[in-house]
Amino acid sequence: MNRLPLIVANWKMNKTHKDAQKLILDLKNSIPANRLGSVVLALPYTSLPIAVETAADSLLEIAAQNVFKAGDGAYTGEVSTNMLVALGVKWVLVGHSERRTTFHETEEQINKKLKTILTSGLKPILCVGEDSMERDLGVTFKVLARQLGSALEGFSETELASLVLAYEPVWAIGTGVNATSEQAQEAHIFLRETVGELVGKEFAQSLDILYGGSVKPDNVAALLAQPDIDGALVGGASLESASFINVIKNGLASKY
Ligand code: PGA
Repeated sequence: MNRLPLIVANWKMNKTHKDAQKLILDLKNSIPANRLGSVVLALPYTSLPIAVETAADSLLEIAAQNVFKAGDGAYTGEVSTNMLVALGVKWVLVGHSERRTTFHETEEQINKKLKTILTSGLKPILCVGEDSMERDLGVTFKVLARQLGSALEGFSETELASLVLAYEPVWAIGTGVNATSEQAQEAHIFLRETVGELVGKEFAQSLDILYGGSVKPDNVAALLAQPDIDGALVGGASLESASFINVIKNGLASKY
């Protein structure tokens, strides 16, 4: 088991490239040079070039929030993995609930995207999570198993080597109501066991599984203190340097 804590910011559709540059400079100057954890920023396409440039020589790595499911071609308005790799982007979010619901991304498309991402050498952060109705109906684990099973279908353990998983209960995203540490830990154990069955036990033990959904400076330590929560995917609290720096400091501190 060699899981390294990972804190990922998801800015969603916020900030111009100029705002992004300013915030990244603030983060660069304030993040402790702590080699024990990684920090990744998932930004809109327009901010990616300046973000990669500004984050150079720092512990920050840059992610895209989306990518097209096939290589270069006649797909007006889309962006390919080739383009992201050429920029120096290292990671891509895939399967975020806002893509699944607002943009009607299907499980089949998510599986295809994952294939394209892994083939390109980019590292995927695959998001899964139940909505409030599914939790109330008691089908959380069923939903997680379905999302995971269809996303990971057809991949070998070697192909999935760079995978990171994020458990993001939809009812906790942007609501201010985070899953309790116990709820999150329970879901993470289930996800790790399911990955163990689908891919391999050893692989599952070394897989980073992040929690996302209303992570804040004052709840991150309790969440990351859980043995199966390896990091956080942070939306709202990553949009200002002071709160994101506190998320990083409190989160990483609770891991050691
Ligand atoms: P939130 O968003 O932290 O604002 O709840 C998390 C996410 O959507 O990744």
